[in-house]
This record gives sequence, C-alpha cells and structure tokens, in this order.
Amino acid sequence: MTPATGYRLPATGKSGKREAGSGKRLLVTDIGELITNPGPPGDLGIVADAAVAISGERVAWVGPGGDVPAEHRHGEVVSAGGGAVLPGFVDAHTHLVFAGDRSDEFARRLRGEPYADILASGGGIHATVAATRAAMSDSLVDEAAARLERMLRSGTTTVEVKSGYGLTTEHEVRILEVAVAAGVRSPVDVVPTFLAHVPDKGSDPGEYADLVVEEIIPATAPLARYCDVFCDRGAFDVDQSRRILEAGRAHGLQLRVHAEQLTHTGGAALAADLRAVSADHLDHATEEDARLLREAGVVAVVLPAASLSMRSPRAPARMLWDSGVTVALATDCNPGTSNVENMSLVVALACLEMNLSPEEAVWAATRGGALALDTPDLGSIVPGARGDLVILDAPSHRHIPYRPGTNLVRTVVKGGEVVV
Ligand code: NIG
Ligand code: FE
Repeated sequence: MTPATGYRLPATGKSGKREAGSGKRLLVTDIGELITNPGPPGDLGIVADAAVAISGERVAWVGPGGDVPAEHRHGEVVSAGGGAVLPGFVDAHTHLVFAGDRSDEFARRLRGEPYADILASGGGIHATVAATRAAMSDSLVDEAAARLERMLRSGTTTVEVKSGYGLTTEHEVRILEVAVAAGVRSPVDVVPTFLAHVPDKGSDPGEYADLVVEEIIPATAPLARYCDVFCDRGAFDVDQSRRILEAGRAHGLQLRVHAEQLTHTGGAALAADLRAVSADHLDHATEEDARLLREAGVVAVVLPAASLSMRSPRAPARMLWDSGVTVALATDCNPGTSNVENMSLVVALACLEMNLSPEEAVWAATRGGALALDTPDLGSIVPGARGDLVILDAPSHRHIPYRPGTNLVRTVVKGGEVVV
C-alpha cells in the first residue's frame, strides 16, 4: 500500500470493538481502597475492604468484601491483594496518530526558541504533517497501537484520538481510519475526533477554513464523533473556528475546542457559546472564561504535561475547579508539546504544579475524562458502569502523585476481562 492510498477499515465497523467479556463473571476481592466515583466532582466514594463483581462487561455489584452475594461468588476471582482499585483512566485528549519525532525541536525550545516561531517557519506541526503523510498506513497503525498498548499498561482504558497531522482531505480521512484500526487491535477504546489543526503550509487561513467546511468535514464526519479546532494565534481565529465548529455540528459531530493555549484569543468563550462538550488546554484562561464555561456546562480539559513541556503558564486548574467548572485531566499525547502517554504522571503534575488534591486529580483523570467524552458509563465503579478498572500495587490513590515515575499499575480489567 502506498502512503497516499486510503487505509481499509477492518470489517468490525466504526466503533470496531468486539463485545468483550460477554456472559463472563469476574470478582475482584481484597480491595484495600475502592474508588467508586459516585457523583460529585472530587468525591471518590471510597469503600474500604471492598469487592467488585462484573458480569459480562458491566459492573454488577460493589460493596464490602464480606457481603458478596452468592450469585457473584462463582466465576473468575482476582485478588487485589489489599491494593487500591480505581476506574480505568479516561484520556480525553490525544493526538496519537503521527509519525516521526521532534526531539530536535524540543532541544531548540529548551534553548529558548519559541514554539510559535518554529511553527511559523514551517516546522513544528508541519514537520509532523510531512512525516505522517509519508508514512505507510500499516506503520501508522503499528505505532498508534504500540502507544495504546503502553497506555493500557499504565492504566488507561479509553483514549480520545484526534486527526490533524494530515491537513488534506485524503490524509485526514486516513488518520481517522488508522485511529479506528489501532483501536480494533487494542483492548483500549478509541474515540475519534476530527481536528482542524492549522492551515496547510502556504495556504490562506480563510481559504483553508473554507476547505475544511466544504470538503474535509463532510469526508471525515462519518469516521469521527467530535469536531475540534485549534483556536489560537498561528492556527485559526475565532471566526474561522466558529465556522468550522458549526460545520462539524451540522454533520452530526459534538464539539471540542483547543482554547487559550499559546495566547488568549477567545476560544473558551466560543466553546461556551456553542455549548461544546469541552474546552481544552486553557493555559491562559481567565476567571471570566471560567464563569462562561461553568454556565454553559463545558468541561475544562487541563493538560499539565503540555503546560510543563511548553514551559507556559500552568493552566489555572485550581481556579477553574474552585469556580465550579468540571475539570478533566488528559495527556495531550503528541510529538510536539507533550510526548507523554502516562496518566499517572499527569495526575502527579496536576497535584504538584497546579495544586489539585490527589482526590481531585484522580477524579479528574477518571470521571472527569468520562464527562469530557460525554460517556457517563465510564470513569466510575458503580452498578451498570463499564467494567474498566485498575488494580494498583499500592494501598491508596494518593500513591499516584506521591510516587511519580513509578508505574503502580498491577492489573487492568477492560470490559470485564483481565487484559494486563
Ligand atoms: O494540543 N495545540 C495544538 N496541537 C497540539 C500540539 C501539536 C504539535 O505541536 O504537534 C497540542 O498541544
Ligand atoms: Fe492538543
């Protein structure tokens, strides 16, 4: 297959996921600390000395280990060995499909060269676009699947994946097909998003936005659940972003916005005005933005690893949380601003760099991510929720930020099946 030809989807279709665990029963016992996330932000709903029963791919029963009903006592039993159990991480913002790496640019940025200058001179995102266009589809799938596998081993069970390194219709379609194909190969659920990332090299931004509206969105919408736009200096202005998002909505997509990342341009207010599901990054968000997001019910997806790598002002996660905005945490995994796959590191950064408490950060990385994807049956361990959970080799969720850099994940259960 040549790089330019389309990638043929496996026969499993858009979601591409087999029905995992159907009919099977799994009982997780000896849970020292069970995080259930029953509702309010930051309330982990901790149950001590607990057990969880999963039937098929859904949680069937949760309670004290001594009270397991007889019907849940047969089937496969996994002991948590006194460790903590939490819902699988929901990573609600990644740019997972790409080729090449930008370690050279990383070193240049460390020497003081601004990200925006590298992008404006044709590097940055455009370097990844060139490498991704040149890559064979099979190798893009292999690389994306390898990233998903590493994410799974670090406790992530659902990943949103954006296009955006193709820029032409053909290549944006191919990236979404690759994302779905990588998800089919992995136990991790992939949620595909079309991202209008930057105007293609040499094109007029307004004319390129027209192309997005008239051609790229109609072609990509059948493969995606969301439409996202990078609303910032060097990418799309607020008017262009609005046109793109409205076209996405007209094609049945829910909306997300890369907002206030490099500069403050009004992306958060746009997300609120359009009732987007999420506004992401928000490094330069203001208290007024927080008010608008809260009133519109838009989830703030904060990306601490990107703020760190960009050495930009840390997104005001504390202020957003205290303003009553629902906050989610995600990796922003991409080769330019956040080559990070590990949600535990993101939780640690949110605590150490953004003053969230361990309870708040773990909630934001699980339940918050689920709400950021408008998928309420994820991110909690209550009857009816998806049986996606992580057993830690540690007694408490607090060890996640307390021991950054150590993978504490011992076992991962996805849709009722032990997958790690
Ligand atoms: O979310 N901000 C725009 N997009 C990515 C970075 C993409 C890149 O540098 O390759 C982000 O940070
Ligand atoms: Fe991003």
